[in-house]
Amino acid sequence: MSQHTDHKRIDVPHGQGQYPVFIGQGLIAQPAVWAEHLSKQVLVITEDDVASHYQASIEQALSGLCAFEVMSVPAGEASKSVAQWSAILDRLVSMNAQRDVTLIALGGGVVGDLAGFAAASYMRGVSIIQIPTTLLAQVDAAIGGKTAINHPMGKNLIGAFHAPKAVIIDTATLATLPDRDYRAGLAEVIKYGAIGDIALFEWLEAQADALNQRDEMALQTTIETSVEAKKSVVVRDEKESGERALLNFGHTFAHALEALTDYSTLRHGEAVAIGMVLATRLSERLGQVPNGTAERLKTLIENVGLPSECPASQSPEQIIERMRLDKKNKDNTIRLVLLSALGQAVVQPCSEETIALAFE
Ligand SMILES: NC(=O)c1ccc[n+]([C@@H]2O[C@H](COP(=O)([O-])OP(=O)(O)OC[C@H]3O[C@@H](n4cnc5c(N)ncnc54)[C@H](O)[C@@H]3O)[C@@H](O)[C@H]2O)c1
Repeated sequence: MSQHTDHKRIDVPHGQGQYPVFIGQGLIAQPAVWAEHLSKQVLVITEDDVASHYQASIEQALSGLCAFEVMSVPAGEASKSVAQWSAILDRLVSMNAQRDVTLIALGGGVVGDLAGFAAASYMRGVSIIQIPTTLLAQVDAAIGGKTAINHPMGKNLIGAFHAPKAVIIDTATLATLPDRDYRAGLAEVIKYGAIGDIALFEWLEAQADALNQRDEMALQTTIETSVEAKKSVVVRDEKESGERALLNFGHTFAHALEALTDYSTLRHGEAVAIGMVLATRLSERLGQVPNGTAERLKTLIENVGLPSECPASQSPEQIIERMRLDKKNKDNTIRLVLLSALGQAVVQPCSEETIALAFE
């Protein structure tokens, strides 16, 4: 596994070209690395909590390079709304933004998805630079070009594929990230290991203590490896017609758990951690992975401080009933991502009776 030297650049190809992902400590304050991706007119979209930490740094970095304005939305999932999307479009119109305007998304997955969808829709698509500030957004949401806002009837119901111009991952921003949000991001990293990279999985097992201490070297390696993992999937399946679905490992259970707990009790990554254990237990019950695999995953999840068991308030029946509503279902069977080995995943249609085995 590669070790950190200064900053790293990973190029991610997509349908219309490619974009660089820069990974390094203190990159917001080093615009020389990424300034070539700016245009003359810039709108920074951030949210209030992130702004309190990083608005001054981004303003300092941009001053003298372009004309820019900063717009901040309230922190939290509720900002992925039609109302906030519309407010961004209003702001772009009021600043007389032209087709060459560049948006910058400075924040976690919420800001990235919201600003990304605004960029996808304004004038049929303008440039966006993603500066993800949560571990989840750095290893997952900012890579791959999916953007979305929520509809009152469902999460991410309104969205578009819109590749960023560049992604700037400043690992120094993780220093201020609350503990639960940091650990929630680790769940997606564990997912990459479980579905496609046994070496990453074993490395995470060995580095759990370093990750718990947010050790800089361990983080650099974790983020670089995760970006490569997400890249390799989205490059082969940009629009999620096949292989990209493997990234939903643990997510069908997770979405049901999140919905049943009103998106307020569990962080997405925490629900994914529980969902991955359930999916692995089911894979084990079906004889696809050796006995003990689910226990091994559970141990890693617990060692990085994530929950591994369903909240007692949620019954298997309720969870399965809710899974039926998942938008990725086809032909009344529930399509789950299961393991065929630790480090290898498959999409499998499952009946509800089969899914119940995950809870035994
Ligand atoms: N587009 C995709 O491919 C994709 C993939 C995964 C998730 N998502 C979306 O991402 C969202 C979740 O993202 P998230 O977990 O980053 O949530 P988030 O953006 O709400 O951030 C989590 C919390 O961390 C705070 N925060 C962010 N950066 C901080 C920092 N550096 N220091 C201190 N506090 C900071 C925020 O204020 C917030 O309270 C969901 O809406 C999900 O649908 C999108």
